[in-house]
Amino acid sequence: MRSMKIFSIETSCDETACAIVEDGTKVLSNAIASQIDLHSLTGGVVPEVAAREHVLNILPIIDESLSTAKLSWDDIDAIAVTKGPGLVSSLIIGTQTASVISFVKNKPIIPVQHITGHIYSNWLDIDDEISFPVLALTVSGGHNDLYLIKDHYKFEMLGESIDDAAGEAFDKVARMLGLGYPGGPVISKLALNGDVTRFKLPRPYLANKSFNFSFSGLKTAVLDIIKTSSDIDDQFKADMCACFQEAVCDVLSTKLIRALEQTNVKEVHLAGGVSANKRLREVISNKLPDDVKFRYPKSLSYCTDNAAMIGAAGYFAYMINPEQYRVGNIIPSTEFKILD
Ligand code: KG4
Ligand code: ZN
Repeated sequence: MRSMKIFSIETSCDETACAIVEDGTKVLSNAIASQIDLHSLTGGVVPEVAAREHVLNILPIIDESLSTAKLSWDDIDAIAVTKGPGLVSSLIIGTQTASVISFVKNKPIIPVQHITGHIYSNWLDIDDEISFPVLALTVSGGHNDLYLIKDHYKFEMLGESIDDAAGEAFDKVARMLGLGYPGGPVISKLALNGDVTRFKLPRPYLANKSFNFSFSGLKTAVLDIIKTSSDIDDQFKADMCACFQEAVCDVLSTKLIRALEQTNVKEVHLAGGVSANKRLREVISNKLPDDVKFRYPKSLSYCTDNAAMIGAAGYFAYMINPEQYRVGNIIPSTEFKILD
């Protein structure tokens, strides 16, 4: 069968990203314009500012992804785009751009749910086969879920974040410590020189036998210690980063292992921005039995928001039912529903 090249667009939050992916795994280009510097000025994403940046960045990023892959629109078989969830003003730029390309270039358009995209980041650049069922822990800034994946697009949600997701907690704790945005990379760096035993932090929701997650209490526990401490020096910050990161890793990995024990699964996947965290990978890997395959995205750029993962998710959706996808207009959706 002829290979299929999908041009994909992701603009759900603060990254303007376009990619070209062949047959759901081979990344031919993966271009991204990050707004991190801009949002670090405000300690978080201001939706209106993010949308304006998408407007400025989208056309250059489209050009960059085509030129890096040395391809033209004639080589592209379909367009995939993130339809939600995310910031509506950001999503509109991506969905409308994709819709215009679909009409003008006469290509079918495939809407992709953002978390489904993160799940498919583990298919990028692999040269072996993924064997279902898979247990997937998606840990992002906005969502923190556990899925049993029985086959392509057969997702069963086992648990979800009932308040702050882990990434959001990393960002808020970093803000409390004056470490800037995003919090994950800077906390994991400082944690390397921190004393993991200095502060006793809670392991929220671990006593609860469900697979749901809750990180807002952990964030409050950190704030309480900060408020009652007079000397917040560099060592205090490093120690707090180490203790906080360990608490998050402990909760995520323990719930994951519990889910593994209740399912007959031989592959565990970690995805989303927090999957870039080396300590989390290490803790999970140490707890997993030897006969369970552990995957996280092949490149750090596939952990955080990117368009290649949207291209992979779009490909596998298309393969299930090609007739469903036609030239058309995609309206953003803020609903969190992974099945479509
Ligand atoms: O998946 P993502 O790019 O965006 C959403 O869909 O939300 O995730 C962003 C989150 C941010 O909260 C960021 O702090 C976190 O991923 N993150 C990390 C690391 N790199 C990014 N968290 C922990 N350790 C990291 N190394
Ligand atoms: Zn994301």
